[in-house]
Amino acid sequence: MELPREIERITKGMPCAENRTGMSDARVLIYPELVLKILPDRPEVQREMRMLRWLEGKVPAPRVAACEKSGDSVFLLMTRVPGRMACDAALLRDPDRLTDRLAEAMRLLWETNISDCPVIRDQQAELAEARLRVEKGRVNMENAEPSTFGPGGFRDPAALLCWLENNRPSPDPVLSHGDFCLPNVLFTDGGLGGFIDLGDSGVGDRWRDIALCHRSLRHNTDGTYGTVIPGFDADRLFSALGVRRDPDKLRWYLLLDELF
Ligand SMILES: Nc1ncnc2c1ncn2[C@@H]1O[C@H](COP(=O)(O)OP(=O)(O)O)[C@@H](O)[C@H]1O
Ligand SMILES: [Mg+2]
Repeated sequence: MELPREIERITKGMPCAENRTGMSDARVLIYPELVLKILPDRPEVQREMRMLRWLEGKVPAPRVAACEKSGDSVFLLMTRVPGRMACDAALLRDPDRLTDRLAEAMRLLWETNISDCPVIRDQQAELAEARLRVEKGRVNMENAEPSTFGPGGFRDPAALLCWLENNRPSPDPVLSHGDFCLPNVLFTDGGLGGFIDLGDSGVGDRWRDIALCHRSLRHNTDGTYGTVIPGFDADRLFSALGVRRDPDKLRWYLLLDELF
């Protein structure tokens, strides 16, 4: 593939491999010390850039090396975060320790001062974006949990959106990752390597990250992605975080995610 000039210049001659873990429509090329993410030119890319710059020196995350537009795509070249994804087989072998490390990583976000955070991803912002997606018919019902739509669930994405708008939980703003699933958190032997995939990060509700992390722990241990860890209790996350399980908030944020 043809790369924009500056990015071509920086990466010329470097070995590279494509990563196919993500579920977004991004292409991700991994170089020894850099990562190139090629995304459709949408507002979230600008948000990701703003957040990556703001996060520098606050929590471990990629640094922006270059960013160029070409046609309908944005080419975001960033530093490579060290470590393995939290869903790596070696880490899933000790799921209790993994849960503790994820909780520690999340608390690092919560401890970050958000007073000058440039991006707001609160319930209002997310619901507005969800509404746009519903109205444009962009919600893919096939990707949803089987119980979300259909008999016993919501008739369609519009009905779900209406329920979400009428049942908003009380907000609890912190620095939120926005897609706190296991492939987006990297660990080294020493500890947190860093967070990646920060296009939805910003000031958001604490339970947005807790809900997605809890679901990702379940799906990475119950066979959804092929690995089964018998007896693993994803609810350990709550005690590791020092919070009481809040089923209404968990449900609200997981249902919101069904519209994205
Ligand atoms: N800066 C980075 N450092 C290290 N690995 C990365 C980096 N960016 C992406 N990756 C790898 O590529 C995968 C997919 O990238 P990600 O940004 O999460 O894309 P998607 O939006 O498709 O989930 C990640 O799960 C991770 O394994
Ligand atoms: Mg990802």
